[in-house]
Amino acid sequence: MARLAIVGGTGLSQYPELQRVDNAALDTPYGAPSAAALIGRLGGHEVVFLPRHGEGHTLPPHRINYRANLWCLQQLGVKKILAVNAVGGIHPAMGPGHLCIPDQIIDYTYGREHTFADGTAKTVQHIDFSYPYDPVARQILIRQLTALQMPYSDFGVYGCTQGPRLESAAEIRRLAADGCDLVGMTGMPEAALARELEIDYVSICMVVNWAAGIEAAPIDMADLMRTLENCTREVKRLIAAVAGA
Ligand code: HPA
Repeated sequence: MARLAIVGGTGLSQYPELQRVDNAALDTPYGAPSAAALIGRLGGHEVVFLPRHGEGHTLPPHRINYRANLWCLQQLGVKKILAVNAVGGIHPAMGPGHLCIPDQIIDYTYGREHTFADGTAKTVQHIDFSYPYDPVARQILIRQLTALQMPYSDFGVYGCTQGPRLESAAEIRRLAADGCDLVGMTGMPEAALARELEIDYVSICMVVNWAAGIEAAPIDMADLMRTLENCTREVKRLIAAVAGA
């Protein structure tokens, strides 16, 4: 199997189940990654783990150095990235506790360093991004989700907002009208940077709350954290199954 990296999101800043082999604290032309990458063993395979918010979950989505993270993973020989993202659910079938393997993205972020093609190369580069997620990796995850009998969706448009605040109800109505099924803050520019470096990229989205305004009550953070914990446990089971397959 090509070298696999897991990019952990909210709820997955540490991965004690990985048997540590090494730590790689790399510097990059773009600055420091979110943390030292942990190289560890999972299901008999060596994998790389990088917590995108830092080990202590200190970096908000707009402060993450996505370019440094992706560059670091490429330097470590990573060919496939399994990204874990906590999201809010917009689609009626994607409520709290649901897992989703999204197939599309809409980017609403701004002011983030979002490309390696920033005019320093000899020619301007335009990557194809019609299908942001790797189709083979998506199918591997979908097969394992079915085998594990977890509740999941095999489609979904991920709307990436700037954060760190959650959205207003009107913003979510707008995202729904645009075709978004999920809303999160970290899917971009990570997916596009992976494509620029020709690293296959796939996301496991954990729905941890109904997006703003879908329910009458405001979003309850204690509920959200409880759901996040449960989802993270399930996602670790899923990753273990994928890594061992
Ligand atoms: N909006 C944006 N990002 C999120 C949400 C949300 O409702 N829940 C978890 N991450």
